[in-house]
Amino acid sequence: MTLQYQFPEGFWWGSATSATQIEGAAHEDGKGLNIWDYWFEQEPNRFFDGIGPENTSDFYHRYQEDIRLMKETGHNTFRLSISWSRLIPGGIENINEKAVDFYNRVIDELIKNDIEPFVNLFHFDMPFELQQIGGWENRKVIDAYAHYARICFELFGDRVKKWFTFNEPIVPVEGGYLYDFHYPNIIDFRKAIQVAYHTIVAHAKAVQVFKQASIQNGKIGIILNLTPSYPRSQHPADLKAANICDLLFNRSFLDPAVKGEYPAELIELLKEYSYLPVIENSDATLIKNNTIDILGVNYYQPRRVKAKAHLPNPYAPFMPENLFDNYEMPGRKMNRHRGWEIYEKGIYDIAMNLKENYGNVECFISENGIGVEGEETFRNADGMIEDDYRITFIQEHLKWLYKAIQEGANMKGYHMWTFMDNWSWSNAYKNRYGFISIDLHHHCERSIKKSGYWFKQVAENNGF
Ligand code: BG6
Repeated sequence: MTLQYQFPEGFWWGSATSATQIEGAAHEDGKGLNIWDYWFEQEPNRFFDGIGPENTSDFYHRYQEDIRLMKETGHNTFRLSISWSRLIPGGIENINEKAVDFYNRVIDELIKNDIEPFVNLFHFDMPFELQQIGGWENRKVIDAYAHYARICFELFGDRVKKWFTFNEPIVPVEGGYLYDFHYPNIIDFRKAIQVAYHTIVAHAKAVQVFKQASIQNGKIGIILNLTPSYPRSQHPADLKAANICDLLFNRSFLDPAVKGEYPAELIELLKEYSYLPVIENSDATLIKNNTIDILGVNYYQPRRVKAKAHLPNPYAPFMPENLFDNYEMPGRKMNRHRGWEIYEKGIYDIAMNLKENYGNVECFISENGIGVEGEETFRNADGMIEDDYRITFIQEHLKWLYKAIQEGANMKGYHMWTFMDNWSWSNAYKNRYGFISIDLHHHCERSIKKSGYWFKQVAENNGF
């Protein structure tokens, strides 16, 4: 069969998940609290429909069934995250043997089914006891994290060969320290910068620990949500605004992770506003010597930016938006359920930027997907959700990914967000993202959506 979009041999087809969003069993088998468990206990009304992270999609008990469904939907790879507070309940010491047993069983089951596990260490889920001492604001947490990483490599590194230090490390910075959608709900740009900086130091330490662990054939990376920053026009003021946005939201993590150093322009910018973080002398060498082997790119939407129209209010807290304005491009295509723009070409622009400016680092699409409300209305008489919009969404992105690969981008795979409908940080189960639907009213019963069957064909044919 000749396919129009034939991907390179060995392409990774799969999907991504995170522990808090799928495991459930939040208070079972010795798991400690993380910030989500704690915040939900404090303010359940901040969560859509009052649904918290205690149950989610019950992967903890049903992982065997789920891995069988991965097989049925053509997965050859799958990303999960380890829950730090399940493995080390207080965050610092005392390993929970029941957690070790659980992750061992999951990893073994994946491998038995020829699905390669990609394991991520931190997906927004800070152990609560560590948040009490400041979370990423406190350098002690960096050491606790490096220790946790070492434990994971020692326990699972004989079988897991693709490791990731963080998923979207900028999101806890934005959510927790700028825009009030993650615990600890602080609004403080200076703290946000310090937290972002400490996260990069923690990342570099974990990479260092990984190298010392000498995991045979192992690769380590980071997963970043890259958002190409498109200027409203080619006017110098708009270009400058887009560049600032790119420096703050993309290059602040991308450059140190891939190149081992911060962009000089970013340092100048922070200096200009007296917002440089507190650093330690050895940090620069640590970051320089511990760059990644592989980059995961989460892509949902671009940023569109224009020069500021008005001077910011001098009495309001200083925010990134003091430096540029967001811009709603007329006629842009939207996913109205999530309020996110759909711009498929962004995936190509990211891939070509990585090829041209980041040494063509090995990378893959580690998340891309569409969250839709009310999917039950698309269930047909046979009980299958006909999510053609998801098929179109993935296909249109894959076309641009294919083009980038044809032009030499080092893109090795595509992971959809997400495998099964899962609990989302602020929207709980409002928008559904999965290949597999979850019936919350019937013991989380699973069923494959049309997109899952379609994906199986694509994965098995290695194209479409
Ligand atoms: C990514 C995260 O940013 O987007 C996931 O890695 C998240 O954890 C996904 O669930 C979709 O976003 P949301 O907020 O709609 O769940």
